[in-house]
Amino acid sequence: MRKRFIGRRAGLVILLCAMMAFMAACGSSGGSQQQASGGGGAPAPSQSAAPSSSTPSESTGEKKIVLGFSQVGAESGWRTANTKSIQEAAAAAGIDLRFSDAQQKQENQIKAIRSFIQQKVDVIAFSPVVESGWDTVLKEAKDAGIPVILTDRAIDSPDTSLYVSFLGSDFVEEGRRAGRWVVEQFKDHDGDVNIVELQGTVGSAPAIDRKAGFEEIISADPKFKIIASQSGDFTRAKGLEVMQAILKAHKDIDVLYAHNDDMALGAIQAIEAAGLKPGQDILIVSVDGIRDAFVAASEGKINFIVECNPLLGPQLMDLVKKVVAGEPVPKRIVTEERTFTIEEAIAELPNRQY
Ligand code: AHR
Repeated sequence: MRKRFIGRRAGLVILLCAMMAFMAACGSSGGSQQQASGGGGAPAPSQSAAPSSSTPSESTGEKKIVLGFSQVGAESGWRTANTKSIQEAAAAAGIDLRFSDAQQKQENQIKAIRSFIQQKVDVIAFSPVVESGWDTVLKEAKDAGIPVILTDRAIDSPDTSLYVSFLGSDFVEEGRRAGRWVVEQFKDHDGDVNIVELQGTVGSAPAIDRKAGFEEIISADPKFKIIASQSGDFTRAKGLEVMQAILKAHKDIDVLYAHNDDMALGAIQAIEAAGLKPGQDILIVSVDGIRDAFVAASEGKINFIVECNPLLGPQLMDLVKKVVAGEPVPKRIVTEERTFTIEEAIAELPNRQY
């Protein structure tokens, strides 16, 4: 009796085991289906190993162009406007933008470019933090067959085959415009004109070129003297800090030339804290043309603005599409810009979006 019961129980156990094995088999196949369709698990290996970077558009099913973009950082109002322009233009153009913020560090940009190469993006664009030191990584992109577009800032490599196009401003001309305005203001002035210069990031194209263009113009008359020239790294905080130190060392400053608005706005705080009137005791010329600078100009605190246009997104996306289509593109595209006196800044202020 007991033996028969044991025998029947053994039969039941075997039956149960067989059923469990069958259910487990069904369960595992359901799990892999969910993973392959992106149901919250890690992507299936076949997805991550996809050879092409282009992603299918949700609406049309067409392959989207993949653009890897390495941005300098978020150091200024100009940069914030530039990032927004690029992100909005990519979305409008149906381009899959892989965006990376380098936090003002060249090594971060090099890492980002290498990662874009590994991802096999269609095009790489970047705004180089500094001018030098790009040849190795850009050669890697070239060897991988990925075209590179420089935006906003240029590089100093003699090998121009490392990039297909440059899109941005003429920084030397911006410096010249600032210099011409200063020369004009003091054309009837006898005696020295003491100038303080707040430079942008050391080694960056805008810092190098805006200095060169400005000096080219003022050097025509020896009365123009740059009595202090230091980097404020294009930030408001550094502009304030550096100007505080300069004001302690120099009592007789006629002009402040700031390579960007954010440094000028920081310096204005330092000038006011020192009991001086920005725009009157010290004339101020700065580069960019962000809204805050227009506000300062309308209050008479900035005397002259040299515009540098950050809204490069739409032009960049057009360029990317042409490059992917194999169409010829210009090697250098310079954006159109202008200057603003106080009166012109007051008129422009209601229109400034950034
Ligand atoms: O490269 C453009 C410069 O970078 C802008 O003038 C400045 O504001 C930014 O940080």
